[in-house]
Amino acid sequence: MASKKPLQCLLTGILRARNVRRFSALPEERASSKSSKHLIDLEYQCSAHNYHPIPVVFSQAKGSSIWDPEGKKYIDFLSAYSAVNQGHCHPKIMKALVEQAGKLTLSSRAFYNDRFPVFAERLTSMFGYDMVLPMNTGAEGVETALKLARKWGYLKKKIPKDEAIIVSCCGCFHGRTLAAISMSCDNEATRGFWPLLPGHLKVDFGDADALEKIFKEKGDRIAGFLFEPIQGEAGVIIPPDGYLQAVRDLCTKYNVLMIDDEIQSGLARSGRVLACDWENVRPDVVILGKALGGGVLPVSAVLADKDVMLCIQPGEHGSTFGGNPLASAVAVASLDVIREEKLAERSDQLGKELRQQLVKIQQQFPNLIKEVRGRGLFNAVELNSKALLPVTAYDICLKLKERGILAKPTHDSIIRLTPPLSISLDELQEGSKALKDVLELDLSYMQKEKPHTTTSHTPSDVCDRCGRNFSQ
Ligand SMILES: Cc1ncc(COP(=O)(O)O)c(C=O)c1O
Repeated sequence: MASKKPLQCLLTGILRARNVRRFSALPEERASSKSSKHLIDLEYQCSAHNYHPIPVVFSQAKGSSIWDPEGKKYIDFLSAYSAVNQGHCHPKIMKALVEQAGKLTLSSRAFYNDRFPVFAERLTSMFGYDMVLPMNTGAEGVETALKLARKWGYLKKKIPKDEAIIVSCCGCFHGRTLAAISMSCDNEATRGFWPLLPGHLKVDFGDADALEKIFKEKGDRIAGFLFEPIQGEAGVIIPPDGYLQAVRDLCTKYNVLMIDDEIQSGLARSGRVLACDWENVRPDVVILGKALGGGVLPVSAVLADKDVMLCIQPGEHGSTFGGNPLASAVAVASLDVIREEKLAERSDQLGKELRQQLVKIQQQFPNLIKEVRGRGLFNAVELNSKALLPVTAYDICLKLKERGILAKPTHDSIIRLTPPLSISLDELQEGSKALKDVLELDLSYMQKEKPHTTTSHTPSDVCDRCGRNFSQ
């Protein structure tokens, strides 16, 4: 590279830029003329193997519809892990993106820009907090909230130096940075990455008595309790009624920050704008992400009041892209869509419909479906892994894909059903029908075809952190 002539580099750059422009000037042209197989092989060769995707290539999308490079249409039942609550390529969000992209995309917070203050005002007034700290990915939002809690713990709660503790829940998922996986109970996410962050304790999700026990024993050093109001990656686990209120009361009683990770459950996904709204509880810190960027850009945010937020001073935390004008414009449009299209109400109603359809399937296959659960369009079907053997939830998702439905399992036996909140009733029915057809028409064939492997109790079923056995 070093020997390349500057002129040659310049020409290559101009030619590349021309290609890009030609491409974007033809929106109807297929994003790629390559086949799905070619693209999947290419990715496998050139990209880290840190995911195990369902083999389908997204080439175009609109609302809840996806097209692959061959033009086959699918219905999205994952919404990029709830990042596309507003539906793919929502016109209002796209307009905000394109208009802002033509004006200003990045200032860094070394300077002010004319979009971030508008976004900050919109977000704080919508959620009723004094201040926001903008970041990009969800994991960065979590990281920010943890740093904020520690800082508040030392400055305001007067926790002795370097002794601050964060409590998080068994089965939680808060992202992939070292701090976020330090909260995790997922062996796959943590093994090989130790040492994890010190100053951390675990408690069973949904167990307020266990939380009080920890607060009683170590409360004077506990800065924050980090939790998901509905655990997403764990399989859409809903806490018992009254739990969120009990957490609020305990956090107040023991002067611990209640840190609510709404990255997946929030922004209308659960049938309320925040999942904590199910119990009308106001956390001290709220973390938003995913759908805040309307499925377009990574935008995350931490909300808190001044007594907490102002514990962080200039120079102590930040992000080059956090609060950038492009993300800010997109986020304002994303919030507008949630409000204008009443997506929380829509999610609530459609979720009830979907669960009714799924419960009917469960009644038809009681030995195969253990449980149907969810709130709004945040749903899971828990399969009976023993009755399914040797077939797994992943295999079921492969068959769903063949029938035009895109869903992704979480753990071996749970299928999460989280379509864009703009999905139609007919499309929901198509999803349920596909699941019914797979269980009715495909499963016995799949069970015969797939070789049995001995499924002994694998060590990864037992959490390295808290000792919980996930297979029970
Ligand atoms: C509850 C929760 N927190 C944090 C994250 C991490 O978000 P990101 O992948 O944008 O870093 C996720 C992602 O799935 C999540 O579900």
